[in-house]
Amino acid sequence: MSHAPVLLAEAMDALALKDGGVYVDATFGGGGYSREMLARADAHVIAFDRDPDAIARGAELSASAKGKFTLHQGRFGDLSTEDKVDGVVFDLGVSSFQLDEAERGFSFQADADLDMRMEKEGLSAADAVNRLSEGALADLIYQYGEDDDSRRIARAIVQARAAAPITRTLALAKIVEDAVGGRKGARTHPATKTFQALRMLVNDELGELARGLSAAERALKPGGRLVAVSFHSLEDRMVKQFLAARADALGRGSRFMPDLPPNDPSRRAPSFALDRKRATVSSDAETAANPRARSASLRWATRTDAPAWDELEPPALAPRAEAEWARLS
Ligand SMILES: C[S@@+](CC[C@H](N)C(=O)[O-])C[C@H]1O[C@@H](n2cnc3c(N)ncnc32)[C@H](O)[C@@H]1O
Repeated sequence: MSHAPVLLAEAMDALALKDGGVYVDATFGGGGYSREMLARADAHVIAFDRDPDAIARGAELSASAKGKFTLHQGRFGDLSTEDKVDGVVFDLGVSSFQLDEAERGFSFQADADLDMRMEKEGLSAADAVNRLSEGALADLIYQYGEDDDSRRIARAIVQARAAAPITRTLALAKIVEDAVGGRKGARTHPATKTFQALRMLVNDELGELARGLSAAERALKPGGRLVAVSFHSLEDRMVKQFLAARADALGRGSRFMPDLPPNDPSRRAPSFALDRKRATVSSDAETAANPRARSASLRWATRTDAPAWDELEPPALAPRAEAEWARLS
């Protein structure tokens, strides 16, 4: 079992690694990014992962790269460094280790408890499926999963759980498949988006991303690089808007509002410079070799010397689901 890092060379180029630099790998996973950073420059890498299994996998690298590499268990939303750093890279989502270990419950390819907790603690996907109201589930699957069949799926979940709690991955996948009328020749399984939505809720992935981007903004030195690889449109949009707002801070937020005068106090100095507005995506060769690369999108920007902006607010996309979930937590 292994994890093939996606957009590895592109992420390393975007970091502009240099000898003597200090870099944060916010998502250690299988360590593919950290290893490449250490191979490309005589640098120090500080890595994080919220998953205890990823931390255990990193023990070997911690021993072999002693003095050049430190690994911490924790969420990147809580990231803070003693000194400012030269680069922060996020490779978002789940690793192949998490997907392939059936008992983690992230995948509908194998039967396991409906878990999906990256940290292995707290409320699980089974709690969401069995305890959220039908309306909250529908909103969640529509907004986080971007699935137009959300109402039908939510109704089927609520009907099924009235007979017995839904506790297994394959049981949920079957409920979703039946609710939407089978696979209809689709390339992806009909439960893909429901599983994605549940995973994002259970791990508060959008909240983490908002806090992580702001934490990186505070941690970076002027000239330091923020690099983010995302795997679905909600994350990519959040990264894109975060960088665009902070790079083009001229008060031209809306076409209905006049430009702010140069000395307006609400005008903010740009905290990032965007050298490239478009996302970098995987090559055809990478996509052919690694299906995970299909939806990958990389964005990066360079930190300026302006102060960090206020903490980014995560979007309240499915407020009913988020509020019910917060009450359960
Ligand atoms: C796509 S994998 C990273 C793969 C890695 N770049 C590699 O080459 O092996 C994403 C990793 O980020 C971790 N992760 C996701 N959200 C996190 C968060 N908020 N804080 C810390 N780690 C997180 C997951 O546990 C997972 O191990």
